[in-house]
Amino acid sequence: MIRMYDLIEKKKHGGALSGEEIHGMVSGYVAGEIPDYQMSAMLMAIYFQGMNAQETTYLTMEMAHSGDTADLSGIKGIKVDKHSTGGVGDKTSLVIGPIAASLGVKIAKMSGRGLGHTGGTLDKLESIPGLTTSIDKERFFEIVNETGIAIIGQTGNMVPADKKLYALRDVTATVDSVPLIASSIMSKKLAAGSDAIVLDVKTGSGAFMKTLEDSIALAKEMVAIGVGAGRKCCALITDMDVPLGRAIGNAMEVREAVQTLRGEGPSDLTEVCLQLASNMLYMAGKGSVSECRALAEKVLTDGSAVDVLAAMVKAQGGDPDYIFDTSRFKPAPCRAEVLAPADGYITHIDTEGCGIASTMLGAGRAKKEDTIDYSAGIYLHKKYGDPVKKGDVLAELYASDEALFAGAEQKFLNSYTIGAQPAPEKKLVYARVTKDGVERF
Ligand code: URA
Repeated sequence: MIRMYDLIEKKKHGGALSGEEIHGMVSGYVAGEIPDYQMSAMLMAIYFQGMNAQETTYLTMEMAHSGDTADLSGIKGIKVDKHSTGGVGDKTSLVIGPIAASLGVKIAKMSGRGLGHTGGTLDKLESIPGLTTSIDKERFFEIVNETGIAIIGQTGNMVPADKKLYALRDVTATVDSVPLIASSIMSKKLAAGSDAIVLDVKTGSGAFMKTLEDSIALAKEMVAIGVGAGRKCCALITDMDVPLGRAIGNAMEVREAVQTLRGEGPSDLTEVCLQLASNMLYMAGKGSVSECRALAEKVLTDGSAVDVLAAMVKAQGGDPDYIFDTSRFKPAPCRAEVLAPADGYITHIDTEGCGIASTMLGAGRAKKEDTIDYSAGIYLHKKYGDPVKKGDVLAELYASDEALFAGAEQKFLNSYTIGAQPAPEKKLVYARVTKDGVERF
């Protein structure tokens, strides 16, 4: 029987926790025997002291086996999963899942909710009236077999350790830690049982990992865990120094994802989605990465990927008409414009600040129990590198209460830097990490 106090003390001084200690800690927390206040202290100790690769693997495996695991053998074909480390305006799952499914890959995906300043796929999906992400295992399999794709939450008793830890990390400022992110993501991916996993590791001012080297370190750790557990696994390091696409906020992001599935999306979002989708298709054995890209490009123009998303929405209880006619998503009733205070070029965006501004409008949670306003958010008219004139509209803000604008507007404006000189071009994808090493682009 472990004493949580002793483990916190050990980690506080940088000691390595044993497999037995990690087992006691995870099972005790899931059983409700270890209170949130002790786990919060442990999370902060891990945040500052880190974990070695062995501890991170133990933690991941304990979390993955903290509840039921999925045996996907009942789903025919190759099952490929994808997970992002979190970003602002990151609606890639809603695009690449349907692309891959429309090309015959099975997507049985377990997603998360918004975390800190980042949005979550479950929250975005639940902005579609009627749609549920709480689906039992049997129905989950049925939907994947019928439509090729289902995206659910940690329903039933799957990965309960991550469910509790994720919510606690969100409100204790302990999200941006390599072992905590790696174990959170990989425990869900391993429990969900897919044959192959593509990781989208974000880097930059809106990511949890702000530097390229930290992002690569996180990617290497996750790929090693995936491969060690017998799965095919690779990671792309993609840009999150700038919000992805133009929409930030749940319903607004679903609309933009659908536009992208029609081949009419913003170029940065489209490019990142095509690269991720190509890697998913490649892992599923659909050809070389470039052949897979050509396949993915085709389904963005022939409408088949939109049909797959609509079928998934319907199967999960949602109204598919919202996918066929996205004007049915009504923006929040109050609107404000943020204007450029000077002439120049957008030379930097504090993307985390943009995410916080959208949370302040009601699009995210500040506390565990907060509810989300699905219609709230931000639409960006100017992005990194754009020239601006004083008085140009930088962005439109949407909220259900005018009183929310004052704080959010200021936060948003402080996130944009306008300089006199044009800004250098940025890459959208920096590197690919596989079991064989790191390929930088
Ligand atoms: N996504 C997750 O599922 N977990 C994290 O810790 C961060 C992003």
